[in-house]
Amino acid sequence: MFDNLKRDAALVALSEVRDGMTLGLGSGSTAEEFVKMLGAAVGLGELRGLRCTCTSTATESLARSMSVSTFPLHELFPLDLTVDGADEIDQQLRLIKGHGGALLREKIVEQNSRRFIVIADESKLVDRLGRGALPVEVTPFARETVLRTLDGRGLQPKLRLKENREFVTDEGHLIYDVTLSGERDIAEVVADIRALAGVVETGFFPREATEAIVAGADGVKRWWRS
Ligand code: A5P
Repeated sequence: MFDNLKRDAALVALSEVRDGMTLGLGSGSTAEEFVKMLGAAVGLGELRGLRCTCTSTATESLARSMSVSTFPLHELFPLDLTVDGADEIDQQLRLIKGHGGALLREKIVEQNSRRFIVIADESKLVDRLGRGALPVEVTPFARETVLRTLDGRGLQPKLRLKENREFVTDEGHLIYDVTLSGERDIAEVVADIRALAGVVETGFFPREATEAIVAGADGVKRWWRS
């Protein structure tokens, strides 16, 4: 769905890439479009000397298959630029990410980037974050304690599954998808969730994105964090 719009946004982000940059490569179908375009530009010799780090093993495989040079984050940070998708974007440039399960590595990479451009189709724009689930990444030792607490708080945690098996992140954790309801702002709810031992990270990205490129039927809109 929205493949053309994803490509439109990715193409504008590609125009921000310069020879010799260090780049963070995101995860998910929109970021994948960007990586494919980047790989094509590298293959044609239009971009040279890039050094990239990836937010998931899936992106790493794609990048390598296109001869994009990848490195561990610790060899490159702080990165010049990261480009990644999102599941929800609000007007303050706050995001929900992680429906693809790569939220922890994404947040680490994005907090260590001078610029993080979020790319998306317009279906990702929301007035209020929490239209869909908020992913909560949990260490397996705490699976039952965190589950019970989240449930007790009315967050309706659902263990993430993939092909009928528990989904395990690249870092070996589980994900509970929780439902935000009520009037409390997501930042407050997340602060309480993060205080639970065993919660490793959530998919709420309050400050990481520095700019957005969002493609819609009326064209591509860009805006920056003020
Ligand atoms: C991956 O863990 C996510 O954070 C993705 O960036 C997010 O789910 C957006 O994915 P799509 O571009 O596939 O919608």
